[in-house]
Amino acid sequence: MTDSSAPRVVLAYSGGLDTSVAIRWLAEHKGYETIALAIDVGQAAPGEMDRVQQRALDCGAVESLVVDAKDEFADDFVAPAVAANALYMGKYPLVSALSRPIITRHLVRVAQEHGADAIAHGCTGKGNDQVRFEVTAMAVAPDLAVEAPIREWGLSRDGAIAWARERDIPIPVSKGSAYSIDENLWGRTAECGILEDPWAQPPEEVYERSAALAETPDEPEELTLAFEDGLPVALDGEKLALRELIAEVDRRAGRHGVGRIDMVEDRLVGIKSREIYECPGAVTILAAHRDLEDLCLEQELAQEKRGLESRYAQIVYNGLWYTPLKRAIDAFVAETQRFVAGEVRVQLFKGHAAVVGRRSERGLYDLSLATYDEADQFDQSQAEGFVKLWGLPTKVWAQRQGHL
Ligand code: ARG
Repeated sequence: MTDSSAPRVVLAYSGGLDTSVAIRWLAEHKGYETIALAIDVGQAAPGEMDRVQQRALDCGAVESLVVDAKDEFADDFVAPAVAANALYMGKYPLVSALSRPIITRHLVRVAQEHGADAIAHGCTGKGNDQVRFEVTAMAVAPDLAVEAPIREWGLSRDGAIAWARERDIPIPVSKGSAYSIDENLWGRTAECGILEDPWAQPPEEVYERSAALAETPDEPEELTLAFEDGLPVALDGEKLALRELIAEVDRRAGRHGVGRIDMVEDRLVGIKSREIYECPGAVTILAAHRDLEDLCLEQELAQEKRGLESRYAQIVYNGLWYTPLKRAIDAFVAETQRFVAGEVRVQLFKGHAAVVGRRSERGLYDLSLATYDEADQFDQSQAEGFVKLWGLPTKVWAQRQGHL
């Protein structure tokens, strides 16, 4: 039943328990009519988004929209993260952190198109995702209201189930999952349940995109990634859209158990949390990209870039996607990628994605300088003067201060 005078909210709808219950909660507590918006960033099995769309209506949404944003996610959000080799704390490829800005952009767009009064997300008050949604909204629509029903209602999982049952809300029967999962093209995240004990080894059931080492093939598999302008454009000689390429590398690397990350993470809100990630494609592609950069980037530039990479990952992790600092670093990174082109051979085996070869027409490797054989063109006589001047400050210091 729609009421033309009721305020409207566009809810980021995942199809899970919390956002399903949130539709009714927003109506009862705030008088909102909810437009549910599900964004496909590569998390869904074929046909699943149709079920998610219907479920929102069954739970009381006045409208239910699904957007296929897989290519946009790959091209506009994952691609810059590849260029920047973005790994938070040197490990986490920013799976969820990359998807929140794109989801928020679509929430804002739909809110504007539908004349809605607010957008809403299903995040708790304990995580990073609330920050990413809300700070992105502040950047792209500073005056739009944001609702955070889960943060406000303070219900436990069991409480939410009971609340829904009392009202006959057709909540998704939990698939026995004791974990909180977030997933997209770039990887899969798992939290909660036994994983909250950082000492406990994650049970095998946590994993979906990567094989256990005991189950991986006993033969290594090789793949060749071709890059242009710092982005992978072909796999084993076949040109692929970035989205397809990531999905295929993810599948192949996952078979070999590549990309499992078990870490204690520093959340922006001050909590340390134990996180399990599966990112076979991301880990493989980043390894290849970093290696190709070693071949193609001039050393001073490479060093400067490495310093900015961890900063970049932190900025993205902390929800600052649409900020002047992030834009400025993107521009620097884009400049560095102009000559990052070539091919990288990666061997997948027993949990490792090992680079075993690389070549580039634009590479800076010069055999006549590097070789130790007859073809050597490097003038070793110049090294003597170089070393003397390089060491001069150290020598003067040692002479004046005495040696250690
Ligand atoms: N800790 C990770 C991050 O902050 C994963 C978050 C997963 N989100 C979720 N709603 N389950 O990026």
